[in-house]
Amino acid sequence: MAVPATSSTPFALIPLHLSSALSILRVESLRRLLAGSFRTLSLVPVLVTGCAGFIGYHVADALLRRGESVLGVDSMNYYYDPALKEARVGRLADHGGFSLERIDLSDRTVIDGLRDRGIDRIVHLAAQAGVRHSIERPFDYLDANLAAHLTVLELARAIESPHLVFASSSSVYGGNESLPFATEHAVDHPLSLYAATKRSGELMAHGYARLYGIPTTGLRFFSVYGTWGRPDMALWRFAEAIREGRPIELYNHGRHRRDFTWVEDVVDGVLRVLDRPAESDPEFDPRSPVPDRSDAPFRIYNLGNDTNVDLLRYVELIEVAMGRSTEKILLPKQPGDVEASAADVGPMRREFGWKPSTPVEVGVPAFIEWWEDWMSSHPG
Ligand SMILES: NC(=O)c1ccc[n+]([C@@H]2O[C@H](COP(=O)([O-])OP(=O)(O)OC[C@H]3O[C@@H](n4cnc5c(N)ncnc54)[C@H](O)[C@@H]3O)[C@@H](O)[C@H]2O)c1
Repeated sequence: MAVPATSSTPFALIPLHLSSALSILRVESLRRLLAGSFRTLSLVPVLVTGCAGFIGYHVADALLRRGESVLGVDSMNYYYDPALKEARVGRLADHGGFSLERIDLSDRTVIDGLRDRGIDRIVHLAAQAGVRHSIERPFDYLDANLAAHLTVLELARAIESPHLVFASSSSVYGGNESLPFATEHAVDHPLSLYAATKRSGELMAHGYARLYGIPTTGLRFFSVYGTWGRPDMALWRFAEAIREGRPIELYNHGRHRRDFTWVEDVVDGVLRVLDRPAESDPEFDPRSPVPDRSDAPFRIYNLGNDTNVDLLRYVELIEVAMGRSTEKILLPKQPGDVEASAADVGPMRREFGWKPSTPVEVGVPAFIEWWEDWMSSHPG
């Protein structure tokens, strides 16, 4: 009688021809299993640039937690308190698979040191962020957002990267007042040098994807906030003012509306995208080219919250979380400020099953809890 071949069947009970067929099957499934575990427990490092930064830290941490190894790169610059960057990389170093290169990517010679490190995929997050800083120190943006960006593109070309994912920004929508911002909208009217460099980065990356066939995805982040956040961002500055009893200045009379996006939602989106290399779009028609399609293996997506909140509400949530309130000074709009932003995340939802799932009512108190802890261990 033929013995049904189940995984619990002892080999001795199976006729010889069946037994050898089963052995082959078992070797094959073992091979697949190992291949699968090598993908999740990868020894091939993902390069994460800007890993000491706010979003880079969270992305690197998530990759390490899912068993990838990470080669982090960061210049550890002094744009904001380097103690915070050191603390972030200190936490990453607790994972076995993490190593760090303290290098400035605007120095193109670093390519030689990185090309033989066995990197394949790249998540490029290093940049000079901040709209106001671009008014005071414009050349920082030339170095970090253009020269360093080109270094990363050249590295991707040198190692024939199977996927380069890079950070762009909602600021590329600039003077666009048609909400929600969609990737099919034209983005030719930046309101700041920061926005212009982020848009330039997209165009440079498209050129490289087209010329060298590097699968490349750009992600436009929208006002990301969360634990281990940046001291120059609104949430941190408001919390500091409330703690010190200082009045809060709200530009545009507090009417700016932002789709604040919780950092873990952003990380979830980055990883989903990273796992699926960009492909050229078969529906792209070069006779009537549209902004968000290409015959190059290049895509752009928005990663933002699909509901926006005005700044007064945001401050109110911080005050509730901190259990105190402060005076608000309502000021006119600043040059370069975008009045409202709201992301069309339809393409991310349809193609990657991604959606932002953390409302500000949950995110803001979670940030404040982390922030109060950080401030008490780092006074001054
Ligand atoms: N945080 C947001 O809300 C937001 C919104 C839109 C876009 N972005 C983009 O997301 C990315 C990450 O932003 P973030 O908020 O984590 O900023 P961040 O300033 O915390 O991180 C950037 C990191 O890059 C490093 N860096 C800068 N220039 C470098 C260089 N030349 N070589 C090597 N390292 C360098 C910095 O030291 C820093 O640690 C950036 O590209 C930014 O433009 C962020």
